[in-house]
Amino acid sequence: TGYITYDPGFVNTGSASSAITYIDGDAGILRYRGYPIEQLAQRSNFIEVSYLLIYGELPTPQQLEDFTSKINRHTLLHEDLKRFFDGFPRDAHPMPVLSSAVSALSTFYQDSLDPADRSNVELSTIRLLAKVPTIAAYAYKKSIGQPFLYPDNSLGLIENFLRMTFGLPAEPYEIDPAMAKALDLLFILHADHEQNCSTSTVRLVGSSEANLFASISAGIMALFGPLHGGANSAVLEMLEGIKADGGDVDKFVNRVKNKEAGVRLMGFGHRVYKNYDPRAKIIKETADEILSKIAGGDQLLDIAKRLEERALSDDYFVERKLYPNVDFYTGLIYRAMGFPTKYFTVLFALGRLPGWIAHWREMMQDPATKIGRPRQIYTGEKQRDYKPLSER
Ligand code: CMC
Repeated sequence: TGYITYDPGFVNTGSASSAITYIDGDAGILRYRGYPIEQLAQRSNFIEVSYLLIYGELPTPQQLEDFTSKINRHTLLHEDLKRFFDGFPRDAHPMPVLSSAVSALSTFYQDSLDPADRSNVELSTIRLLAKVPTIAAYAYKKSIGQPFLYPDNSLGLIENFLRMTFGLPAEPYEIDPAMAKALDLLFILHADHEQNCSTSTVRLVGSSEANLFASISAGIMALFGPLHGGANSAVLEMLEGIKADGGDVDKFVNRVKNKEAGVRLMGFGHRVYKNYDPRAKIIKETADEILSKIAGGDQLLDIAKRLEERALSDDYFVERKLYPNVDFYTGLIYRAMGFPTKYFTVLFALGRLPGWIAHWREMMQDPATKIGRPRQIYTGEKQRDYKPLSER
């Protein structure tokens, strides 16, 4: 009480102490549990990184096997949950569908809701890691009118997800190993990013001791916004707009600099990175590699590269320390893989899921945790007397 610090957007507020992810925004450094993102991107895989984030250490071979087989046993959705998708319009955005279905997990899996019970938390952790990819694939299948495919638990998490998304019951689906590897890499790069908007949301909701499914469902909705996870779709729409306008990047950059309403260089800028986002660096190389395999390349990649070069040499961006962020090149890769633009943010959510879970669990175990309840600076009327309707 008494003195309240005014910090809109929590620019300078440390809302938690955390041992999960370290970022040095000025130096462009990102580490999960102390491991540099570059090493994890090159040598690890998404399942292992998920384990690392959630449990704090890289798994031993036995731990990895147990973790993987537990996840594999939980990939099926309850048959009634499958019917849940029928209620949505065909053209529904997949993010609210995903969030709603995750929220509905609280109703189907009532035996694992108690945040104070460790075995409950463990079970919901595994259920989420296993079922969210299935839900995501079904949201896609529903949107294009194709039948849902049951998971094939002989496959790895990423391969299973690709098959459920792009496969058909009538024909065998051949998994492209290069595509699976690229998606695995992108998921690693998205897996955690300390107290970003969606993770802070998961923590805030969880701080009221709401269950893990409820908290993650809220995080998914925070990620939906175009300034956060929605940026990957927005970048692609921006690039398509520039292409339709004859590919004139100068014209677009001038619109951004003139601060035309609603015009930002999407995929640029970051609250914490005031240097090249280390994830964007890795992704740019992957984009080059993947897109060079597509016949004739991708015109949008060329536009993106020209746009980046143009922005990085412009005072407006230099002065404000605006560099490409994780979302700048991901959309191009997702598009090349065959995902529709609307679906990109769902892929971000799949990648971020272990990070959200790790933070929720860390918060629940931290004795310093209290319900999140920021204060405000009140700017309204002091006090006034009620006037009856006839006198207004
Ligand atoms: N294009 C043009 N100007 C920008 C941009 C941009 N992308 N980003 C920031 N600015 C300007 C902003 O107008 C302001 O200028 P001025 O000082 O003249 O008013 C200055 O830079 C500082 O910006 P801010 O809005 O105070 O910065 P923030 O830390 O509140 O916002 C951000 C960070 C990521 C929301 C913002 O940079 C942005 O809107 N970027 C575009 C959306 C985007 O790519 N989001 C993905 C972020 S990374 C992954 C994720 O979180 O999902």
